Amino acid sequence: MAINRETLNLVQYYTHHGNTGVDMAAKDLFRDSITEEERNILYGVAVFVKSHFIVAESAGIARGGHGFDHHRRVVAYAGTLAIMEGIYPFIPMLTAMIVDVGRASSDPRAADWRHGQLSAEISGPYLDKLSTSILTSSDKLEILEAAEQHSSPNKDTDRPLTVLIKDADKLDFAGLTSLPRSAAHRYKLPVSLPVSGLESGPTEENYQSQISTIIDDHQGILDCLKDPKRFRIPSARFIAAMRVVSYEQILNSLKQELSATEEIFDEIIGGRAIIVNDAEGYLRKIDTK
Ligand SMILES: [Fe+2]
Repeated sequence: MAINRETLNLVQYYTHHGNTGVDMAAKDLFRDSITEEERNILYGVAVFVKSHFIVAESAGIARGGHGFDHHRRVVAYAGTLAIMEGIYPFIPMLTAMIVDVGRASSDPRAADWRHGQLSAEISGPYLDKLSTSILTSSDKLEILEAAEQHSSPNKDTDRPLTVLIKDADKLDFAGLTSLPRSAAHRYKLPVSLPVSGLESGPTEENYQSQISTIIDDHQGILDCLKDPKRFRIPSARFIAAMRVVSYEQILNSLKQELSATEEIFDEIIGGRAIIVNDAEGYLRKIDTK
């Protein structure tokens, strides 16, 4: 089936008018992009994957930022990239739907790069049940290969579907949603410490705060977005370039907000260190510099 020209035009319109590449994932753009039968199949896959996450959550298996919400965003990015590249989006969206189901497992591979293998193993029998009129055997092989390979570094031998899925996955990593995802396990850290010294980067966990780790992670996202080897699909490179501009503004604004309020606070208390008794009764200097 050919790509709906109107949908393609709308996606391109939103791409050029959005500033982070998220706006283009507006649901209206995808309404006519696939058939009703294909939409039903994607719904079935979503239920299959979500059920694995529900079982994993009730068993106390938490995978930090790799929950079902990550699937939803990667599916949206995979569909967006496919449409922007003039590729029929059904198989890319279906593949994105299954790539991290391996995270919802007690198998030790779920916690490392081998979760892609696990996703392929879990999804294979499900895909085998789908009619060959929907997915040919070579489609299934390519989907499972992309699922298996998505968690490995980029390779020259990656097939087109694998390249697209890796770029879609990386758009979620290199997005603002990555910040709370990566900071979720650091909730016990103080919200903020003085920003002085952040330019050189905190080196020990004791000197970190939720905000300082977010700043570090934000810098990591910018490095990824600027790395010409990380994204291989032209549309993904385009979205990455748009994000660099707005994300640099956000990072600079956050640093300015922190340093300006710190300077004002220091001025208000006369530039003195705060010395208090800690819980053990020792005098503790709260380092504001
Ligand atoms: Fe993954």
